[in-house]
Amino acid sequence: MAEALRVGIAGLGTVGASVARVLRDKAAELTRQCGRDIIVAAVSARDPKRDRGIDVSSAKWFDDPMKMAQTAEIDVFIELIGGDEGPARLSVKAALEAGRHVVTANKALLAKHGVALAEIAEKKGVLLNYEAAVAGGIPVIKTMREAMAGNSVTRVFGILNGTCNYILTRMEAEGISFDACLKDAQRLGYAEADPTFDIEGHDTAHKLSILTSLAFGTKIAANDIYMEGISNITQADIRAAGDLGYRIKLLGVAQRTESGIEQRVHPTMVPTASVIAQVHGVTNAVAIETDILGELLLSGPGAGGNATASAVIGDIADIAKSRPGFQHGPVFGRPAKELRPYKKAQMRSHAGGYFIRLTVHDRIGVFAAIAKRMADNDISLESIVQHAVSGEAAAQKTVILVTHETTEAAVRKAVDGITKDGHLTDKPQVIRIERAG
Ligand SMILES: NC(=O)c1ccc[n+]([C@@H]2O[C@H](COP(=O)([O-])OP(=O)(O)OC[C@H]3O[C@@H](n4cnc5c(N)ncnc54)[C@H](OP(=O)(O)O)[C@@H]3O)[C@@H](O)[C@H]2O)c1
Repeated sequence: MAEALRVGIAGLGTVGASVARVLRDKAAELTRQCGRDIIVAAVSARDPKRDRGIDVSSAKWFDDPMKMAQTAEIDVFIELIGGDEGPARLSVKAALEAGRHVVTANKALLAKHGVALAEIAEKKGVLLNYEAAVAGGIPVIKTMREAMAGNSVTRVFGILNGTCNYILTRMEAEGISFDACLKDAQRLGYAEADPTFDIEGHDTAHKLSILTSLAFGTKIAANDIYMEGISNITQADIRAAGDLGYRIKLLGVAQRTESGIEQRVHPTMVPTASVIAQVHGVTNAVAIETDILGELLLSGPGAGGNATASAVIGDIADIAKSRPGFQHGPVFGRPAKELRPYKKAQMRSHAGGYFIRLTVHDRIGVFAAIAKRMADNDISLESIVQHAVSGEAAAQKTVILVTHETTEAAVRKAVDGITKDGHLTDKPQVIRIERAG
């Protein structure tokens, strides 16, 4: 049997401790599958005394992950610390430069430094594997990098943040407000104490930037993503979406257009009958559309110790199975030096259908004025409905418009015009409609 593969785990938190546990519990199975033993030779975390529910005393302890990255006592450096700078970045870089394979679950690091790190890995002839960085346990990186040769991707989109999907699912199922759902998600451990990063779309954007690079062979451009979070989604939107045959999801979408590549993260209406609309709670999903395959949808657990460990261990097993002298495939599907500059499509030229919800004064002429602003901007309407608002706000009406395909620029101009006309009593709500099978 080949020599054992020696791994060093940096970070023994939710994911790191699960990886160590699965490597121990599934040791015999992994040896059978990989043709060699995988042993945890070294570990690093901040606090050597913390009880992590797993005995790692047989592994050499390193206070400094940088030192562990450089030691000749490991073959693979597993980065499970997190963060886009500091010890995570420095230790991954050091490990690659020392000729160690690296496995990481760190989307923030890859979104910011992925291309530079890939260049080092490719120069050194080692693997930089990151299956767990996007959609947790779902094997989307492997699918895009290895299983879709010859396919040209036209669009990739997905539910990439379990916290947001959990909140939107509960808002719809139970009719409760965004704030109440968020509080509950925090109590149950599905949302951080500071939830901004998740609910405002940053986490989805990091993951999307990696998928965009794999899909279109471009450099990662995480700072060029149009982003809107879910905090202004109300029960009125959820109910109106349901009445119209849609469900609201926070999607990350990357799409090739005539003017460049769109990368956008925002609340989206998807047809209730579509497959992605059936993805509920903390579950993630990624849809990939290509010229040969058509649409593929992968769905499963996007976070959590075990699910994430499953992806990390798949990456380790790939390294264990690779043979010395074997030329490894490039990190982002094409050699890092050949990744093209990202050409951003302007959001104003985005084409699609739109849902617009307006709260207006209940007076004669308002309806006609709204219709005129739409017509003036060449927006053709699929439907326009007005409802009386009951209770204290009885002097108001809600007008809901659904447009046929139009542009973002036209919609913004029309809504600005309606706002200037002085008919609105509340902020207008605009939600993009996404085609989904
Ligand atoms: N949690 C998930 O469900 C999930 C899913 C997908 C991807 N990820 C990614 O996986 C990574 C780890 O996430 P996590 O949830 O496991 O984080 P976590 O529970 O906060 O664990 C982080 C670990 O890093 C260690 N650490 C922090 N600073 C360190 C330093 N300077 N030197 C050595 N060790 C240090 C901590 O040590 P102490 O324990 O001693 O404090 C802790 O063990 C992140 O990149 C995250 O984005 C997580």
